[in-house]
Amino acid sequence: MSATSPVPALPAQYAGTSAAQTVAGLPSGTVVCDMYEPRGAEIYHDFTLGDPSEVQDILREVRATGSGTILELAAGSGRLTLPLLALRREVLAVDLSAAMLDLLRTRLDRLPVPTAARCTAIQGDITDYVAPRPVAAAVLGTTSVSLLTRPQRQAMLRRTWENLAPGGILVLTNTQIGADAGDLAERTLEVRGASGAVYLVHDLVAPDRSGRYTVVVGPDSGPQWPRTVCHSYIRVLPLDELLADLTAAGLVVEHIATLPGERYAASLIRARKEGAR
Ligand SMILES: C[S@@+](CC[C@H](N)C(=O)[O-])C[C@H]1O[C@@H](n2cnc3c(N)ncnc32)[C@H](O)[C@@H]1O
Repeated sequence: MSATSPVPALPAQYAGTSAAQTVAGLPSGTVVCDMYEPRGAEIYHDFTLGDPSEVQDILREVRATGSGTILELAAGSGRLTLPLLALRREVLAVDLSAAMLDLLRTRLDRLPVPTAARCTAIQGDITDYVAPRPVAAAVLGTTSVSLLTRPQRQAMLRRTWENLAPGGILVLTNTQIGADAGDLAERTLEVRGASGAVYLVHDLVAPDRSGRYTVVVGPDSGPQWPRTVCHSYIRVLPLDELLADLTAAGLVVEHIATLPGERYAASLIRARKEGAR
């Protein structure tokens, strides 16, 4: 969903928030867009490039599968893809966003050729992507399962079961709004990206705790490159609902761990397709 307007405005659900006020005060010509559209993707990439969240936890799970192709779902610009490639296995990196995949390909181009050659970047929808061969491990990190509606999630899980080799695992993470989320008031913080640019990040929790909103205001970079604001909504899935969907898709949930976070913790789940590898 894109909104590029002469008078910047966030979607209606942000009405009354301090994020909406900030954006309303920006000059006309400011680009307001979804986080994974071209301009948003560059911002997302810059401010998450050095983020180590989940990386070691996911690598530990995948490494334990020993060998075989890794299917990375919603790979984005490669924050997890590059560490997965370091396991010296084939990686199929699937994402819907051409802009995010362009950033991934740029990163792959900077790697030694034999390493980059083990990764295939694929534009596709994780709800219906068919892998060219059965995979030993599928990864859906960064709590990206929360971006899918329930029917999309159920389709993604069924398809992932089909893509997995018998005995293969799915590792995914899911956002939790922890008790330490405090009064759920809107929070604003400054984050420095890998490029040195400073972003103003607004973080809001829906009043019923059903989801969270992130609005990132990019820096004023001069007339040639108008300021960009990007936004994303992340559903908070009840864990029991997600576990029920995993089971209904034929996967056996083996392990659930909590990954602590400052405001939002995450659950890391390992589920297996039955059978011997
Ligand atoms: C939070 S980002 C995570 C990217 C990457 N894993 C990381 O850690 O930076 C979520 C990604 O999910 C992708 N995405 C959302 N829905 C998708 C779908 N149905 N199929 C494929 N990718 C999807 C977006 O394009 C975006 O790149």
